[in-house]
Amino acid sequence: MSSEDQTPLNTNSAPKHIAIIMDGNGRWAKAKHLPRASGHQKGVQTVREIVKHCAKIGVDSLTLFAFSSENMKRSSEEVGLLFKLFLAVLKQETKKLNDNNIRLKIIGDMSVFTTEIQALANDSEQLLGHNTGLNLVIAANYGGQWDIAQAAKKIAKLVSEGQLQVEDIDADVFGKHVALADLPKVDLLIRTSGEVRISNFLLWDIAYSELFFTNTLWPDFGPDELDEAILSFHSRDRRFGARKEEN
Ligand code: IPE
Ligand code: IPE
Ligand code: MG
Repeated sequence: MSSEDQTPLNTNSAPKHIAIIMDGNGRWAKAKHLPRASGHQKGVQTVREIVKHCAKIGVDSLTLFAFSSENMKRSSEEVGLLFKLFLAVLKQETKKLNDNNIRLKIIGDMSVFTTEIQALANDSEQLLGHNTGLNLVIAANYGGQWDIAQAAKKIAKLVSEGQLQVEDIDADVFGKHVALADLPKVDLLIRTSGEVRISNFLLWDIAYSELFFTNTLWPDFGPDELDEAILSFHSRDRRFGARKEEN
């Protein structure tokens, strides 16, 4: 038996699209009497492991909430630190992602970032755009409400240019303009750190996602717990509002 065969989860059983609210870096650091920066750094390590694991078990798309639009309200010191970390990760990881055939997409309002970050993010997306493996999506300065508003803006423009009729706007048309339009529907949404809320992450896209909440802080999260979340996902009866045929 090859090591591949021993993997408990294979391509057939992996959800197509997993989204994660990676929360709890600060509390992880606090519990260890470390600066918040250490929590964020350890959090990046968890990201590496989870990306690797998702690629291995055949997940099609992984969307990670790295920085919310509301996180801009944090101290300038912490925001600066998170921006620096984002820049460092883009610099360090792009080659490794490319070696692993991973595609990258960054969603969110990038205008708040420095021109250096914007340029690097753009370059990484371009370079990795031709890959055919895992679709890795990083949500940076992202808000679910921002996403819906920007989709509405694009649709309004099409209407004003005469390319779309108001009567033709429905959920399918609208869904083609949100940030994750070209990816499969989000099957499973995970949030770490014990908070049971969405915090303005994906709103449009999670209409029928299965939700998994864990008390584990993001820096302590790992492949085993991801497998647990996936097992839980498989135990759910997804009805999408319909009823199964009764025998
Ligand atoms: C999540 O960890 C990372 C970001 C929001 C950038 P937090 O920084 O929110 O950690 P806690 O919630 O304070 O523990
Ligand atoms: C959500 O976590 C954002 C990210 C994980 C990037 P927060 O820590 O910002 O959420 P709240 O403030 O607890 O709702
Ligand atoms: Mg938090």
